[in-house]
Amino acid sequence: MYLSSASTEKPAPGTYPDDLLASFAPRLIAWQREHGRHDLPWQNTRDPYRIWLSEIMLQQTQVSTVIPYYARFLERFPTVEALAAAPIDDVMALWAGLGYYSRARNLYRCAQVVAQEHGGRFPSTVEGLADLPGIGRSTAAAIASFAFGARATILDGNVKRVLARVFGVEGFPGEKRVENAMWTLAESLVPGADASDADVSAYTQGLMDLGATLCTRGKPDCERCPFAGDCVAKTTGRQRQLPAARPKKAVPTRRTWMLVLLLDGDAVMLEKRPPMGIWGGLWSLPEAAGEAALADRALMFGASAKAAPLASLTHTFTHFKLDIEPRMIELERKGAALAANEAETVWVSLREIDAYGVPAPVRKLLDGLRGSLI
Ligand code: ADE
Repeated sequence: MYLSSASTEKPAPGTYPDDLLASFAPRLIAWQREHGRHDLPWQNTRDPYRIWLSEIMLQQTQVSTVIPYYARFLERFPTVEALAAAPIDDVMALWAGLGYYSRARNLYRCAQVVAQEHGGRFPSTVEGLADLPGIGRSTAAAIASFAFGARATILDGNVKRVLARVFGVEGFPGEKRVENAMWTLAESLVPGADASDADVSAYTQGLMDLGATLCTRGKPDCERCPFAGDCVAKTTGRQRQLPAARPKKAVPTRRTWMLVLLLDGDAVMLEKRPPMGIWGGLWSLPEAAGEAALADRALMFGASAKAAPLASLTHTFTHFKLDIEPRMIELERKGAALAANEAETVWVSLREIDAYGVPAPVRKLLDGLRGSLI
């Protein structure tokens, strides 16, 4: 189902210019032959074991890091059978430093499946390869095209960037709908039946090389790009906007009203917060969910004067923003009922706030208040 030669799915007519769709592969192949990479250690072989090993290592790791690991692996495990027969600890030890260790565990499991269930021979189709542990659709296509000349497309992060720019594919490529459109586009670009196996290899390598060497994320070298004249990003100056970035999650905003009861210009009432929830167990200002509810709370503390607004502030948590609306009532000791009448309340001098565990934005608010009173 992944094979483009078998796939009839094409981008809707008119979505992209026909001449660009038709000329993309031959131009990329010509560019790869002239300007691409030809001497990477896993090139110039059709041994699926070597190609598979390199593709797994290259999944999340850059070429220069992979090269010495690749050499050591091949020396220690020259065949898939040798890898499958090794103790897992030896494999993990050789992998140490490459990171993403589930890749190494899957590599080992994959070697065992190939050795035990496929007689030591890797499947030659994208589907067969993609059934193996650790091999996704793009990696399967890379192995199938390099080792077996399959007309299949890769689509990793670099290729998504190239396609988004050259064809002007809008939307965040991590979004399923956009990714599906990119698979359809990428499959429609794969060289056809007239191409040789060497052309297919050069095409796949060309996609990788263009993304890694010219069409880079930060500083694309458009002057040397074979598609500069057609590239939507280049011709509209949107290299930085394509591909689109992950949409920022809208963080919800909550609002709370905080009561600053200021006694004799010096002390404020703090209240211990319940153990669970935000700022659990910290000392904070008494809160309410609105202006009127705050006035009720103030009354319970014996403060009946109208509360004056102080400058509001916003505090950002991971999952939401909190708008704080502080309201202040000034009290004098004489005549005020002034009960720190609930078990978990205290009067604290503004000079001694530091001795209490107070949430950062509340501390900021009280520091500001103290500064304004001096
Ligand atoms: N990244 C993934 N596969 C690669 C390959 N075969 N050559 C260079 N970089 C790659």
